[in-house]
Formats: sequence, C-alpha cells, structure tokens
Amino acid sequence: MTHQQRGGRFHEPVADAMRRFSQSVSFDWRLYREDIEGSIAHARMLRKIGILKPEELSAIEKGLRQIEKEIEQGEFHWREDLEDVHMNIEAALTAIVPVGAKLHTGRSRNDQVATDVRLWLKKVVLRQQSTLQEWQRVLLNRAERDIDVLLPGYTHLQRAQPVRLAHHWLAYVEMAARDHDRLQDALKRIDVLPLGSGALAGSMLPLDREFVRRELGFAALSRNSMDAVSDRDFIVEYVAAATLIAVHLSRLAEDLILWSSAEFDFVRVPDAFATGSSLMPQKRNPDAAELARGKVGRVLGNLVSLVTMLKGLPMTYNRDLQEDKERLFDTVDTIDGIFSVMIPMVRDLVIREEACLKAVEDAQLLATDVADWLVTHGVAFRDAHHIVGRLVKVSEEHGCSLRELPLVEWRKVSPIFDERVLEVFKLPDALEKRVMVGAPSRRNVVAAIEEWKGKLSC
Ligand code: ARG
Repeated sequence: MTHQQRGGRFHEPVADAMRRFSQSVSFDWRLYREDIEGSIAHARMLRKIGILKPEELSAIEKGLRQIEKEIEQGEFHWREDLEDVHMNIEAALTAIVPVGAKLHTGRSRNDQVATDVRLWLKKVVLRQQSTLQEWQRVLLNRAERDIDVLLPGYTHLQRAQPVRLAHHWLAYVEMAARDHDRLQDALKRIDVLPLGSGALAGSMLPLDREFVRRELGFAALSRNSMDAVSDRDFIVEYVAAATLIAVHLSRLAEDLILWSSAEFDFVRVPDAFATGSSLMPQKRNPDAAELARGKVGRVLGNLVSLVTMLKGLPMTYNRDLQEDKERLFDTVDTIDGIFSVMIPMVRDLVIREEACLKAVEDAQLLATDVADWLVTHGVAFRDAHHIVGRLVKVSEEHGCSLRELPLVEWRKVSPIFDERVLEVFKLPDALEKRVMVGAPSRRNVVAAIEEWKGKLSC
C-alpha cells in the first residue's frame, strides 16, 4: 500500500516482514480481469448518479483498459508493497489518470474482493461444467466402443457378477452428471452481487446497485451488507463440489491402476501417460492415474482449510478471509489438472479383451444366477442360497468350476436340478436377462448410451 492509500494517520511505514506476510498480490493478481470489469461497472454507475463527469468516466475506462492490456502482455509491474491486485490496479490507474482517485467512491476492498471472486468463480464453474460434459462424452464414446466387452464386476474387490465394461463407464457418466448438477446448484449462490455493501454498512451515497448488477450480469443482489462482505459459503460449496469431482476421478483412477496390473491385465494405459522405473526396466507405471488419485487429499485439505478459516470468525470482514484465495485457486487448478490427464488417458486406453473374457468366464460369477434359477423353480431364496453355497464347495473339492461339475453331483445337492440349469452359464445370454431399469443387459446399456448422447448432443 502506498502511504496515500494507507491513509493519513500513519507515521511509520509497514515493516518488511509485515509487507511480505500480508501481501496477496503474488496470487490474487489472477483476479485482474474481474477487478477491472467490476471497476468499470462501478465507474459507470458513479457517472449515472452524477459523481463522475462523462469525460472522467471515459478517462477511467480508457486507463483501466490500458492497464488490462499491459497485464495481459506481461508488461505490468506488480508491486508487493501495494499489497493486493485491487491496490495495484488503482495505483496504476491514478498514476496515468489522476481522476482515478474518485473510483473508490462508495466502495471498499471488502465488497470489491467479494465481487471479483464471485465473477471469477462464475466463469470457472461454467468452464468446468463443460469439461465435465467433455468427460462424459469421452466415457460415452468408450461405452460405445466397448459395448461387447464383458468383465467381472467386483464387490469387496472380489469377483462378484459379470457386467459389461460399457455399464462400468456409464456409472462414471452418472457421477459426472451429479457433479454437474452440484455446480449448477452452487452457481445460484455464487451468482449474487455484493458490491454496494461497502466496508460492511453500505454507503450514504445514492449508489445504484441494480444498475451495477445488470452491468456485471449477476442474477441477484446480496440482501445484507454485513453478510455480503464476509460470506464465503459460495467458495466452500464450490470446493465441496470439487472434492466430490476429485473423489469420482480418483475411483476411476484406482480402477485403471488395478486393471493395468499384471494381476488383472484388463487394460493398458497409453504410453503417453505411463512412466518407467529408474531401476526396474520392466516397469510401466500408471503414474498419471496415481497422481489423479493422490490429488484428492489436496482438494479435501483445501475444503477443510476453508471451513476452519470461517469457523468462529466474528462479524464482519476479517483479514483471515484473504486465505480463501489460494485454497480456491489451488482447487480449480487441481481439478483442471486431473481432467487434463484423465480425459486423454481414458480416451486412448487399450482394452485387453482376451484377458477380460478369460476373467469373466469364471463360472462362479454366475452362482447368483443359479440361485435365481432355483427360485424360479419354487425354492425359497434363502434355501437356494444355501444349496448353491454347497455346490460351490463341492466344485472346489472337485477342483473344477461350477460349469464343469457333473450333473450327478448337482443332483446330489438338490434333486431339483436338471440339465437346463447349465443354460445359466451361457454368456452373454446371462446378462441379457438383466432388463430392469438400471441393469446391464445390452439393450439397456445401448438405450442408456443413446439417452446420454441425446442429452449431451453428441
Ligand atoms: N486482499 C484482501 C483480501 O483478499 C482484500 C480485502 C482487504 N480489505 C481490508 N480491509 N484489508 O481479502
């Protein structure tokens, strides 16, 4: 802060340590576009209510545009002693346009910074919503290509029942749709204009907040000046939604890590996203997926930091709130970073169909279908479950799979069995019986793909 910006009451300059400790310009410079956008809208409003003359307004607008250009071209000199993006831009403006000194009329950095962050975050949310849709398109495209790949579905990481790989991809399309909705919902509370709240108690000047709202394209005006300058709920909500996005991506990352191991061998991650070992020449590590999995900790850490920052904060603005920005920026960058590798990695993934097929041919995967077969022959499910459990045990004792177990052995366990039960083991027919809403028959999966394609217009 310059001596003048700091006000007339100080004799001593701030200590160097304080300057370094309190500066935010090293990271909040990222808000420069929104800061300038907000200042131009505010200046236009000051002109409308007669505080700025038309020529003063155009000088201010011109000056701000020039500063914006300088920043964009990397020619702007950011000064740490001016503390933050707001003071840097204002000081540069008044240096070229003295009437810039009128710009801060009726405004405080408290309502200014809240406005800037909301403007910035609105753009981010819209952009990340389209990234989520791009992600869904990649998954849908995979689902179309992999429609006839069958593989075991797992619970407890134990082979459970056969599924279509496409159904697995579509599960992530659903998660991304919820993520999109959550961002849409957060947007309602981000899209509120705090400018005009002043430091905490508005202004005695006849500021036209509605005019500024229209200029900046906000959906609503904040309703309470004290709340408006200290509300950061909208950042918490965004970061919470981002945490779930990261969680979902980490789950798919983990699927890929497991599947690319020799033990599964279902997929091969593209060379462009795999790394070697500095020691073991045979290694091919899915580092991109591991990092995507690991990044959740940092996003969740940001969420915890933000909530902790807000807890017990007395009304209204307190400088603690400056800590919101690095956590927010880091979250946005981390989500962008995860998508930047997950999207092409999944798009170019190689599916090892023979390995998937070999795994899904494990007849024990159809034990549940054998139980269901008994149910259709009048056996109570609990009894059927017990009978099939015994059969599995017998087959293990014979060192063979259920499918290979001779019919005589089946009939020893239960006389209800006849040769028709062996039909159960025919894949993919077994899957085709799963036709209720949400189940993975081919027909259902194809219909789900078509439905999503319609929604995402692809
Ligand atoms: N850099 C500050 C922040 O990010 C701007 C607001 C400062 N307001 C103040 N009264 N010191 O929160």
